Amino acid sequence: MKEKRLGFATRMGAIAATVGSAVGLGNIWRFPYQAGENGGGAYILVYLICVVLLGIPIMMSEFIIGSSTHKSMKGAVQQLTPGSPFKIFAYVGVLGALLICGYYCVVCGWVIEYLWASASGTLLGHSPEEYDTIFKTFVSSPDRCLLWTLLFLVLNFLVLSRGIKNGIERLSNVMMPLLFLLLIVFCVNSLLLPDSDDGMDFLFNIDFYELGWKGVVDAMGQAFMSLSLGVTCLITYSSYFKEDTRLMRDAVTISALDTLVAILAGIVIFPAVFSFDMQPNAGPDLIFNTLPTIFQQMPGGIVWAVAFFVLLFFASITSTISLSEIPVTFLIDEYKMSRGKAIAITAVLMTVISVLSALSFSTLSDVKLFDKNIFDFLDYVGPNFFMLLGGLVTAIYVGWVLKKDVIHKQLTNGGKHKSRFVQPYIIFCLRYIAPVAIVIIFLYYTGVLKYLDLF
Ligand code: PHE
Repeated sequence: MKEKRLGFATRMGAIAATVGSAVGLGNIWRFPYQAGENGGGAYILVYLICVVLLGIPIMMSEFIIGSSTHKSMKGAVQQLTPGSPFKIFAYVGVLGALLICGYYCVVCGWVIEYLWASASGTLLGHSPEEYDTIFKTFVSSPDRCLLWTLLFLVLNFLVLSRGIKNGIERLSNVMMPLLFLLLIVFCVNSLLLPDSDDGMDFLFNIDFYELGWKGVVDAMGQAFMSLSLGVTCLITYSSYFKEDTRLMRDAVTISALDTLVAILAGIVIFPAVFSFDMQPNAGPDLIFNTLPTIFQQMPGGIVWAVAFFVLLFFASITSTISLSEIPVTFLIDEYKMSRGKAIAITAVLMTVISVLSALSFSTLSDVKLFDKNIFDFLDYVGPNFFMLLGGLVTAIYVGWVLKKDVIHKQLTNGGKHKSRFVQPYIIFCLRYIAPVAIVIIFLYYTGVLKYLDLF
């Protein structure tokens, strides 16, 4: 029954799928643009600290919940701590996943547009300024944005409902290493550009004045976004791990790979940004302006462009599949729905949110939530609020509520391995560092820190 619910052919496939979930637009689109908006080096340093002190421990806490029960969030909490109110946070996960998907699928639509333009030969041959205009014209045309977003949603739900998810995941096991190789080629190419040093300085020179509290919040939210944390996704995926999975080793490997992909994306983008005199703080447009400029100065540019956007498409769909799986699994578990019905309801909800955010730059550009258009609002509140809130709850639950022997058993694979340093590190981060850091961030949002004249 469990296998049928999620449909992994082998339990080991679940680990590959977890990497598929983590590596996506978060690494290649969001990380560079956030780093660019927050001044580069200092943001990256804070991001790395967040991965080590929050990301890996919270990933471990989700793994411990999932792999000790083989259930998704709500059932797992019921089994581990009967009657505990923590199960209501399954709702935070579902809501967070829906909101994130609602703008993520729009960016997937942009990827398809750029893939189409590359393949039809119209993408290359423009100046950097023209790429800026091309992107802005595209996102402000409601028909094209909607067309690609809806096409992406159809593909996503076809994969989920036809049970070919497994095939896509296996395919992505080939695609991911290829994407990785391609990024390395692009890195070399970018480093050979004139003035590439300025880009590397921007990326790796640490200047905290550029960062500010906004940058810290962004780096924290980005670590959660990139590692797929706080929305119960990893609880569900780890509920399919094999008994003998070494959770800590896998969490470290997944986090390291994911971070490496993000840093590589930065090394591709920023040297080019400086070399071609573009703006590092261009926001969500950044990679869509920079990449075409990079491709067109490479020999055989069209081929590189098509290959890149195809691979990025696969990296993205394995992430949206894992995001969509959160509400689907929830509806099945909570309301005993058939998988088909759960997928249909999730598809309707996601389509409504995606359509609204796809129109944020055109028809609905006047609709503002907290001074942001719908797309920007979702891109802010999904990672920086819902994921952090989910992460806070998971950290408190595993750090303070869950019995130590459950944690010990998972970390040592039932006593087979030692966890002399790992367990204290995980517990310390979950008990103190994560709650304190996330609560400070929430106080910052609500303006309490400013009110107290603290920051
Ligand atoms: N981690 C994915 C990315 O970086 C996005 C994601 C978030 C996927 C949450 C699943 C759950 O693109």
